[in-house]
Amino acid sequence: MRTLSSLGLLFSIATLLESAPTPLPIQSLDFSNVLPEHARRADPSLTGYLGAFFLGDKPSVYFYLSNGNNAVSFTALNKGNPVINPTKGTQGVRDPAIVTGGGDEAGRKWYIVGTDLNIGKTTWDAAQRTGSRGIFVWESTDLVNWNNERLVQVEDATAGMVWAPEAIWDAEKGQYLVHWASKFYPTSDPNHTGSPSAIRIRYAYTKDFKTFSAPQDYINKSPTNIIDLDFLPLGGKTYARFMKDETAKTVFTEISTTGLFGTWTRPGGSNAIIQSGVEGPAAYLDNQQAGKAHLLLDFYGSDGYRPYESTDIQGGKWTASDRASFPTNLRHGSILPINATFMSALSAKWG
Ligand SMILES: *[C@@H]1O[C@H](CO)[C@@H](O)[C@H](O)[C@H]1NC(C)=O
Ligand SMILES: *[C@@H]1O[C@H](CO)[C@@H](O)[C@H](O)[C@H]1NC(C)=O
Repeated sequence: MRTLSSLGLLFSIATLLESAPTPLPIQSLDFSNVLPEHARRADPSLTGYLGAFFLGDKPSVYFYLSNGNNAVSFTALNKGNPVINPTKGTQGVRDPAIVTGGGDEAGRKWYIVGTDLNIGKTTWDAAQRTGSRGIFVWESTDLVNWNNERLVQVEDATAGMVWAPEAIWDAEKGQYLVHWASKFYPTSDPNHTGSPSAIRIRYAYTKDFKTFSAPQDYINKSPTNIIDLDFLPLGGKTYARFMKDETAKTVFTEISTTGLFGTWTRPGGSNAIIQSGVEGPAAYLDNQQAGKAHLLLDFYGSDGYRPYESTDIQGGKWTASDRASFPTNLRHGSILPINATFMSALSAKWG
């Protein structure tokens, strides 16, 4: 009886295995062959996320802290009041981006850069013809206190504006690559009353966010206008980048496995988009689930940022996340994964 039932069990398992769908080759489940180091390794020391945003019509920097290690659940710090109020330029900052220190500054220096634009004091037309040609910079050594406000001019008088600066540490260069969006007027049109170039992404290098190399084009898809570039490093020479097509009003992604100045391809083809009617993409890796990332997309005509997620970043596949715990009316900013030291320090100072 026992023998028979054992045989019966074996037979059932064999039948089950045969009738089950053909299992995928083992390599396709072993992400180490597919995904670079950074993307596949969740980091147990990271226990939450810090978000920096501007709100609706309020051009200051507002901080939000994740509720525990939930990547799409946030609470306002400082009782919903700004953490940084700009005092220079237009006295308004949009698009605040937290920059993680690299090289000697890794783990001990952070910057926030942002657009110098208080739209309440101007018009969208004037803001693009004769807007600020500087970027706001603040520094911190603890993510809690932000000092040394400055407004650094990065373009010459032919530029109509400098929008949505961000920066990424370029380990190969040993400097920060800073980028932003500008359009340009011919020198024969010093008052910028005529037709400009398409908006393109510009870049410069800096070691200190005080002096910058001469700016150059980074992405020029003329006649298409491009703004709001954001990088997601995936380890080694692999990067995802996200940007807004300001002509079609869509956000799309491109992938490079050959570095920041390598070959970028648009997964899904040249017309593939993630979402239309959005801007200000802000991407961050999940702290807990290897290979997963989040992407905030600013529904600028509606209720601001909504979270999207992907477990196929290089395939460019993004879907809307559950946003029941995600605050509304957060506008173009950025998210930084942080550890327990910073979670408690930020709560203690601004909670
Ligand atoms: C958090 O990161 C900082 C900077 O790298 C480090 O000094 C600190 O020890 C870390 N804290 C924890 C709990 O890992
Ligand atoms: C630019 O504007 C100034 C001041 O309004 C004016 O004097 C000048 O003639 C203008 N230049 C051109 C090339 O239109």
